[in-house]
Amino acid sequence: MADLDARLDGKVALVTGGSRGIGLGIAKACANAGAKVMITSRKAEACEAACKEIGAETGGTAIYEAGHTGKAEDAERVIGATIEKLGGLDILVNNAATNPYAGPTIDVDLPRWEKTLQVNLTAPLLWTQLAWRAAMKESGGSVINISSVGGLSTNPILGVYDITKAALIHMTKQLAAELGPKVRVNAIAPGLVKTDFAKALWEGGKGDEVAKAYPLGRLGEPEDIAAAAVYLAADTGRWMTGQTLVLDGGGLIAFNKVG
Ligand SMILES: NC(=O)c1ccc[n+]([C@@H]2O[C@H](COP(=O)([O-])OP(=O)(O)OC[C@H]3O[C@@H](n4cnc5c(N)ncnc54)[C@H](OP(=O)(O)O)[C@@H]3O)[C@@H](O)[C@H]2O)c1
Repeated sequence: MADLDARLDGKVALVTGGSRGIGLGIAKACANAGAKVMITSRKAEACEAACKEIGAETGGTAIYEAGHTGKAEDAERVIGATIEKLGGLDILVNNAATNPYAGPTIDVDLPRWEKTLQVNLTAPLLWTQLAWRAAMKESGGSVINISSVGGLSTNPILGVYDITKAALIHMTKQLAAELGPKVRVNAIAPGLVKTDFAKALWEGGKGDEVAKAYPLGRLGEPEDIAAAAVYLAADTGRWMTGQTLVLDGGGLIAFNKVG
């Protein structure tokens, strides 16, 4: 019988936006499952603190290389450092994202439109290209793109962000079709998760209404997403590619949809 444990022993995982929130949760879970982990975000100090936290909580290896995911030279440097210092690259989690604009899509200014596209869509493509060329084309691997339930619907103020997340779901399918059988590419679409990124949507009791509308009765925590990421990265996800796992407490199928 196949091994059903989601283990990552001997694997190397790179998590963008791994210094806090969902990315940190995924990095911890990968380390806990036996992977050596590289995290990256723009702020070196935050990455350093996160690595200490991962090491203390899991006993695993976590190192960092700071960088901006939207900058090609940073992407090359971080991927190069991962392979040089950890000996390979088996799992790429494209998690970092931005949301600089809130309002109707019809009114967005081009600089903020382009920035959202750069970080949320161009960067996952670029990082996947580099990972493929530098390691995964030869040794195989798993790419996990963090999308959003927003990418499956419309929203009065988050339309620009949601468009990039919808495109990321399609890019997941396209790259999965191109990179199989060596590399599996999947996405996760979280509902509202209690992180800094989404604070405006849940702080000060605002999340209570959303949580009540979710059939599972609560907002998400980074660990909820991390568990699925490890499933996808490990051999447990071996026959899955091009798909998007929705993890939203049942929000999408709720009778009274909120958000
Ligand atoms: N929270 C939610 O409710 C929710 C729901 C659906 C989807 N998501 C998605 O989940 C992912 C993680 O979100 P989160 O809620 O965990 O956010 P978060 O707590 O704000 O963390 C974001 C992480 O990304 C890093 N980051 C941001 N911009 C970056 C850039 N240009 N280059 C490199 N690193 C960058 C941040 O560190 P630095 O500031 O140091 O760069 C941080 O480590 C995102 O893709 C988001 O769209 C979140």
